[in-house]
Amino acid sequence: EKDIITLAIETSCDETSCAVLKNGREVLSNIISSQIEIHRKFGGVVPEVASRKHIENINIIIEKALKEANVDFKDIDIVGVTRGPGLVGALLVGISSAKAIAYALDKPLIGVNHIKGHICANYIEHKTLEPPFTCLVVSGGHTYLVQANSYTDYELIGRTRDDAAGEAFDKVARSLGLPYPGGPVIDKLSKVGNPKAIDFPRPCLEENSYDFSFSGLKTAVLNYLNQMKQKGEEIVVEDVAASFQQAVIEVLVEKTIRLAKERNSKTIALAGGVAANKGLRNLLEIRGSKEGIEIKYPSTTLCTDNAAMIGSCAYFNYISGQSSDLGLTVEPNLEL
Ligand code: KG4
Ligand code: ZN
Repeated sequence: EKDIITLAIETSCDETSCAVLKNGREVLSNIISSQIEIHRKFGGVVPEVASRKHIENINIIIEKALKEANVDFKDIDIVGVTRGPGLVGALLVGISSAKAIAYALDKPLIGVNHIKGHICANYIEHKTLEPPFTCLVVSGGHTYLVQANSYTDYELIGRTRDDAAGEAFDKVARSLGLPYPGGPVIDKLSKVGNPKAIDFPRPCLEENSYDFSFSGLKTAVLNYLNQMKQKGEEIVVEDVAASFQQAVIEVLVEKTIRLAKERNSKTIALAGGVAANKGLRNLLEIRGSKEGIEIKYPSTTLCTDNAAMIGSCAYFNYISGQSSDLGLTVEPNLEL
């Protein structure tokens, strides 16, 4: 059978990325231009700034991706692009470019759900991974517990009722005076801090539901910091970080294991930026080995936003017969 070459574009937040893939699992190039340094001084992503930077970068990044893959425009079989969820102005830059390329080449255009893209990063990393499996998608914008029934059918089982897991990391880091993005910094500090130093709440852990909630935990950290300041007592940042992280990952891990057991999954896959968290990976591996469940996660580059994961998802959509037309629009609030 003929190889399918996919050109993929991702611009949903603050990374301008373009990738070239062969058959959905083999990455020929994956160029990621991060705007993190630009947004750091604002303490978070500024949507208007993100859109402008995407426009400045997009053509350069596409050219780099083709060059590194040693592929010409004429070699491309399908064009995949993130259609949502994400920042509307940022998404529009990627969609407009993808439409122009698909139109000029007269090739199929495939709109991709960013959250499914995060899950598909696992197909690139683990060449023999096949559905069904249980998946925890944890990023700056999303917290979803998912049962992957096929390459295109992702069943939503649980979600956050308020803040996303990564958002909680970022907000707690900010209250501790740590730089953006907070997740990696808290992860690092947690290695030296004591996770049992402060007894923060484990939200929704006892509930039967598979939903999550992190805003109460964030408030508990803020209250703790205020009380300590009022009492004039020293705040050990490492201990706060470790205790907070422990509370988050215990809830994430217990609910994910519970679902995997309920569905008889032999594999759990992690996805999204927070899947880079060492504490989360470790605890899940410990709990998984007790239950005979294998834990998989993508390399750090494939955990955070990138176009390769979008290309993988576009490929699987395409071979299952799904494609978009040039009327494709952005869907900032797209669900799984
Ligand atoms: O997937 P991603 O790049 O963007 C979204 O789609 O949201 O995820 C970014 C999020 C940020 O909230 C960041 O703090 C978090 O992932 N993150 C981490 C770690 N690395 C990135 N959170 C915890 N531990 C990490 N090591
Ligand atoms: Zn993402």
